[in-house]
Amino acid sequence: MEKNLYIKDISPGDTVDATFVVEQPSLMSGKKGKYITCTLSDATGSLPCKIWGTGKDEQVIGVYEALTAGMVYRCYGNASVFRGTMELNINDGVGYLCTPVMTEHLVPEDYVYSPADIEENKKELFALVRSIARTPLQHFVFVALETYPLFFEVPAARYKHHAYIGGLAEHSLEVARMAVAMADGVSGVDMDRDMVLAGAILHDIGKAASFEKQGFAFISLPAYSLMGHTTLGIQMVSRLQGERRLPEEDYAHLLHILQSHHGEYAEVRPHSAEAWAVHFGDNASATLHEVDEDLRETTPGEVMKGRHSGGLVFRFERPDKASLPQEKEYQGTLF
Ligand SMILES: [Fe+2]
Ligand SMILES: [Fe+2]
Repeated sequence: MEKNLYIKDISPGDTVDATFVVEQPSLMSGKKGKYITCTLSDATGSLPCKIWGTGKDEQVIGVYEALTAGMVYRCYGNASVFRGTMELNINDGVGYLCTPVMTEHLVPEDYVYSPADIEENKKELFALVRSIARTPLQHFVFVALETYPLFFEVPAARYKHHAYIGGLAEHSLEVARMAVAMADGVSGVDMDRDMVLAGAILHDIGKAASFEKQGFAFISLPAYSLMGHTTLGIQMVSRLQGERRLPEEDYAHLLHILQSHHGEYAEVRPHSAEAWAVHFGDNASATLHEVDEDLRETTPGEVMKGRHSGGLVFRFERPDKASLPQEKEYQGTLF
């Protein structure tokens, strides 16, 4: 089946009959019986979806068991808005979800969503690693990235932020940029720039061992929810330490940054300025992307509870530059 409709072109009220990647299917129980929630995606974005079927629990359970995350399915349903977010509801079209569309009939570029410039991000990350002046630490970071090459491919999360191919590397790069800007930009605070960079780049390395490729998507592995990416990251860094031997102080500081990078929500709060800088960078990168994703689904002047950020967002209108009066440079009394 040829790709005839993209997610970006769907509006509320549309009847949709097109092929999408099905991700994260979950079997739910509601007042009216069983239903499935999942995310549909293609090269242009993603859309929440609910599969209701035609009224029988057994039918929904059968479809749930047949669905393989990451595969492409023909999705026939209606787009509508639920709690401020557009979603696709599938009733009669449930039968199409029992068999995926064969991958050899599909063009990958139609289905893989990634706003990240993977090659550019890689280049900038490598330049930052090269700028780590202490060579054992610099080599340690390079070896970590070489040992876990999925770092450059996997998403940073399942739903919330950077949930696209190349998302982890993009997020880690943003954290490194911001954390190092804090190290350079705060007057009178003497920070270990090398450690800030190493910690920022590796803070989420555990996510590189949390996903595997299936079809057109990355599927999270059980370890991701059973242990969490912080524990996985610490395991990975400890394993590398067995081979690389960083000086004890650097190794301890790096482990501390990984362990504390979730700030107030971490098992231990950050104990050093470097660990706080990585935490603030992490928080800023995640929050700004979540709010931005929510604002994309909001019309100007509308307050909405965002599905990514979990908080209220409001889309302010920006004045049209062309209609602004041209004013001369400000002549004040201060300068
Ligand atoms: Fe994290
Ligand atoms: Fe992170």
